[in-house]
Amino acid sequence: MDGRDLVRSARTVRAVGAAQGWLSVRSALRRRRADAAGLPPRGAERARVPGTAVGAEPQPGGGVVRFARSSLRIRVTAGGAVFCGWDGAVPEPSYALVGTGPEADGRAELEPDTEGGWRVVSERVTVAVSRYGAVEIRTPGGVVLRRELPPRWWDLVPEGASGRDAVPGGGPDEAAAPEEGARVGMYGESRWVQRSEVAADARFFGLGGRAGGPRLRGGTYRLWNTDPGGAFGPGDDPLSLTMPVQLVVADAGTHLVFHDNSWDGRVTLHEGEEGRGSGHDRAGSCELRMDGGPLRYWVLTGTPARVLHGWASLTGAPALPPRWALGHQHARFGFGDAAEVRRVAAGYRARGVPLTALHLDIDHFDGHRVFTVDRTRFPDLPGLASELRQEGVRLVSIVDPGVKAEPGNAVYESGAAADAFVREARGREVRGAVWPGEAVFPDFTDARVRKWWGGLYAERLAQGFAGVWHDMNEPSSFAAFGDPTLPRSARHALEGRGGDHREAHNVYGLAMARAGYEGLCELRPEERPFLFSRSGWAGLQRYGGTWSGDVASGWPGLRASLSLVLGLGLCGIPYSGPDIGGYAGVPSGELYLRWFQLGAYLPLFRTHCAHDAGRREPWEFGEEVLEHARAAALERERLLPYVYTLGHLARLTGAPYVRPLWWGAPRDRGLRDCEDAFLLGDALLVAPVLEEGTRRRAVRLPRGRWYDTATGEAYDGPGQVVVEAPLARIPVLARAGAVLPVTGADGGIELEVWAPAPGRKGGGIVVPDSGDGWERPCVERMESRWEAGRVVVSRADGEPVEYGVRIRGDGDGAEL
Ligand code: GLC
Repeated sequence: MDGRDLVRSARTVRAVGAAQGWLSVRSALRRRRADAAGLPPRGAERARVPGTAVGAEPQPGGGVVRFARSSLRIRVTAGGAVFCGWDGAVPEPSYALVGTGPEADGRAELEPDTEGGWRVVSERVTVAVSRYGAVEIRTPGGVVLRRELPPRWWDLVPEGASGRDAVPGGGPDEAAAPEEGARVGMYGESRWVQRSEVAADARFFGLGGRAGGPRLRGGTYRLWNTDPGGAFGPGDDPLSLTMPVQLVVADAGTHLVFHDNSWDGRVTLHEGEEGRGSGHDRAGSCELRMDGGPLRYWVLTGTPARVLHGWASLTGAPALPPRWALGHQHARFGFGDAAEVRRVAAGYRARGVPLTALHLDIDHFDGHRVFTVDRTRFPDLPGLASELRQEGVRLVSIVDPGVKAEPGNAVYESGAAADAFVREARGREVRGAVWPGEAVFPDFTDARVRKWWGGLYAERLAQGFAGVWHDMNEPSSFAAFGDPTLPRSARHALEGRGGDHREAHNVYGLAMARAGYEGLCELRPEERPFLFSRSGWAGLQRYGGTWSGDVASGWPGLRASLSLVLGLGLCGIPYSGPDIGGYAGVPSGELYLRWFQLGAYLPLFRTHCAHDAGRREPWEFGEEVLEHARAAALERERLLPYVYTLGHLARLTGAPYVRPLWWGAPRDRGLRDCEDAFLLGDALLVAPVLEEGTRRRAVRLPRGRWYDTATGEAYDGPGQVVVEAPLARIPVLARAGAVLPVTGADGGIELEVWAPAPGRKGGGIVVPDSGDGWERPCVERMESRWEAGRVVVSRADGEPVEYGVRIRGDGDGAEL
């Protein structure tokens, strides 16, 4: 047991209570036993590198380069995405991709390069392969964005052969080339490492949800979805939602690289160093070590917006949450009973703090059993749901994958009858420990099981729930020691290919989200599902969003919340947010308020906490906090048409709602290093207060004119300004020229227009509410400009502007 294990198990015991402590010991012992029997010792391994290129075969979009001991398939797609697959790896099967992946670019051809190498030249990118298997991704202008050095594998030596004997005359690097296609399966057991270099000025982002970012400093990041066990802060890694997606931003350009491999792995990053003009720059580097699975990856290049658009085309458009899920929501572990739910809803109403949803945690279940209701404390849940609904408040239900393993539990019995639960290698059901006690886990990598599980949501809908909150799906199983999850040897269907938990673990939450989403679509086809999930992987956005998980209350936790939301957005998951106030621990009034004020500008705006962490209703922190929290929640309500528009834009373009400041200016190095502010869409720059006692703060501005929305003061970027940040609000600046849809006095859309800088133009997008179904939205493009000393707004398509317009900034008072 290492130090981390100790900390985690101490947290687990604290979080789950002593009663379950012994269960977590038993489940850890069982896991260890299952793996001892089910995972054969690794045995002898033999190292291998590709060797020298011996030939190539052109194919659409590229071709296959053959090396003495491997092969590399390159395919440039019509959209400019590059696929590279070693040892016969092809894009499919994949949990991340939608469809069969994009079409090859018919005009991109593989051709001989200098010094025995090969290259593929396309309109947007050039891929150059050296004679020894290094791969360079270059811009059309020839600048190298990324150089992948030749990979190295450690192949298992087949039984009966050992070490050198396995290959006649073979040194460590002289193993035979695997047969083409032999490793196409996703369960190859060769470990591998790939080192890459990026520019000295490059910055790394992404890798899923990381607490220590958004800029990922040098260090090692693990790719293994992990329940941190109670509470985490910036130093904890990994967390619940990891993914092998890096976004790299450098002067030379931005690129995203995705290693399509769900096995356990580690990414070690080194930021580069510039030689301050001496010419001795040290490149940045990244080393990816995987425990198995294919070596295949995608690279997307271009502006950040282009890259994210390409990523959404590859892995699917983000699901659009229903409009109410963009409002302020409240959750609590330990709501008690229906009376308390009513009391909290009434409390919000009485104090004029907007609320669109209340989330019921596991304590409303009967003995924490998923898909049940404690009827003593919630005798008429459908009645409660419709009563709240009339006041504009929806109910959202937690859904955990762990099913209590006991006769008489209908969900367990129907799952067992359907052979739905994950089994050990020796055939027994895997038994772990989660909230309800001893639990079994559905195998969501089996289409049949997804269908069964999806059907269970009928019960949630019948109880009146409007959305679902997937939790504990790393999957998490309390463990007194070792990894708090299923045995690595546990068997999974993996869509019929068969395999074990080493490959299935990281896609478990993703596959559960698919089950829930598809179930809800079938059960309630007229409404878009609302689903968010603690764990996931590349592609989760197709089914819903995520949240921070159990972030520790405290100022570092507040910072970690922003890091998570920004990083996830850059990995294609635009909808997320933290537990406002922190999950575990009791925040001070000031911390709670600053968290609330930040949350008001994040896609998921939800207060939540553990049962022993005090309360999170804004009135629990005194009059002053209540007043300012109310103002923040009202401002969110006012901005709802804008946030809703951003949801649509995320769906259409892959651009996250919440973006780093460098989004439109990736070459601005100051912005690249700025981690304490963000853009909400194109129009707003939000500068949260992340430190205690702060009442004014420095804000780094991108190029152009920005207005402090509270004071109207105009500032010209790029540069840094100091603005007021009183307890009453956090600084929010609006881009000159921006046209934002906001809620007008009559409840309809009004356009808020920030005067363009003199001689400049501006604009914005408006997507009017088209309901919570599937209607195609209309997208209205607005333009703003000065005309005869006045700010004028018009529609780009020439149609009349049908909304009221309010000009702000320099144009205050100007009339249309
Ligand atoms: C997990 C979740 C948390 C929830 C708790 C009980 O810790 O992350 O949000 O309240 O489980 O269900």
